[in-house]
Amino acid sequence: MSKAVTEQMTDLKTLETTLLAEIAAAGDEASLEAVRVAALGKKGSVSERLKMLGSMSPDERQVMGPAINGLKNRVGEALAARKAELRDAAIAARLAAEAVDVTLPVRQSPAERGRIHPISQVIDEIAAIFGDLGFAIAEGPDIETDHYNFTALNFPEGHPAREMHDTFFFPPDANGERKVLRTHTSPVQIRTMEAQKPPIRIVIPGKTYRQDSDATHSPMFHQLEGLVIDRTANVANMKWVLEEFCKAFFEVPSVNMRFRPSYFPFTEPSLEVDIQCDRSRPGEVRFGEGNDWMEILGCGMVHPNVLRYGGLDPDEYQGFAWGMGIDRIATLKYGMPDLRDYFNADIRWLQHYGFRPLDMPTLFGGLST
Ligand code: DAH
Repeated sequence: MSKAVTEQMTDLKTLETTLLAEIAAAGDEASLEAVRVAALGKKGSVSERLKMLGSMSPDERQVMGPAINGLKNRVGEALAARKAELRDAAIAARLAAEAVDVTLPVRQSPAERGRIHPISQVIDEIAAIFGDLGFAIAEGPDIETDHYNFTALNFPEGHPAREMHDTFFFPPDANGERKVLRTHTSPVQIRTMEAQKPPIRIVIPGKTYRQDSDATHSPMFHQLEGLVIDRTANVANMKWVLEEFCKAFFEVPSVNMRFRPSYFPFTEPSLEVDIQCDRSRPGEVRFGEGNDWMEILGCGMVHPNVLRYGGLDPDEYQGFAWGMGIDRIATLKYGMPDLRDYFNADIRWLQHYGFRPLDMPTLFGGLST
């Protein structure tokens, strides 16, 4: 073999060693492609050597031809093998990274995790019951004028009943008028009479405020007001409506109710209503049985002065009204011991006493099931 051929063979050996090392070292498909182009591309190290075959003598070419082509083939095979290796590794890495453990529990959706506050639930139950009886819902502002909260409800100026309400007063405004946080939902009676003509059949759930705080009183609490006005509404109608409500709300076939004479400035006659219950088992109240009575609401025939304040002629229209504590009837039905817990925004309390959002109370589907 001529000296030139021997040198070229050494050069090829070196090149092969270098290329195979570069191929083995390529860490991803992009760097492997760079090695391929540098070797087998148009101006690659192996391609350049193949081009040189044309200028060789036939003897030289006979040795160098198979040598360079052999190198080209081995480099090509090494490239293909490394490429397959890198692709397998990439797939394995992706499979590992994107693996899903199908044995993990499914995460609950917000609609399953969230809970409806018992007060909201009870208001929905009340709406379902009175909606079924043909009542509409009315609302009014939490910040009231003295006129709507007291005067128009027939509380005389300076009458002690105003003080009995433990009212939160706002500082007087420029006109010397002191607004109040409404102490009851009754002002919405007047607002409704002003806004619509009889017949009126409404219930008014809402927030009310008094300076009072202990296990059974919260400075913010909820009332449900009811108002019926037409030409013939009477005490018998009122008793029937209240009895139907109590049976439906407490989900019992019958309740015994006791109507006692009472006093409210805005009704005449005024009555307080007790329902019969059994409190002999500790921490439990049962309705429709037992020998205890529990006061649940105040009611009466709307006072003629109140009708007049509402813009109605008492010789033409009459009506009845009632008011009760929503928090209180919620406690009676669902047994939450301390009223203050209602408003502490404690997620654990809500998890325990709350209701599932998709279980909407209806009379046909059940109120609390
Ligand atoms: N507003 C009364 C209160 O807060 C409750 C009440 C009693 C409302 C009798 C009425 C009613 O509409 O007729 O104590």
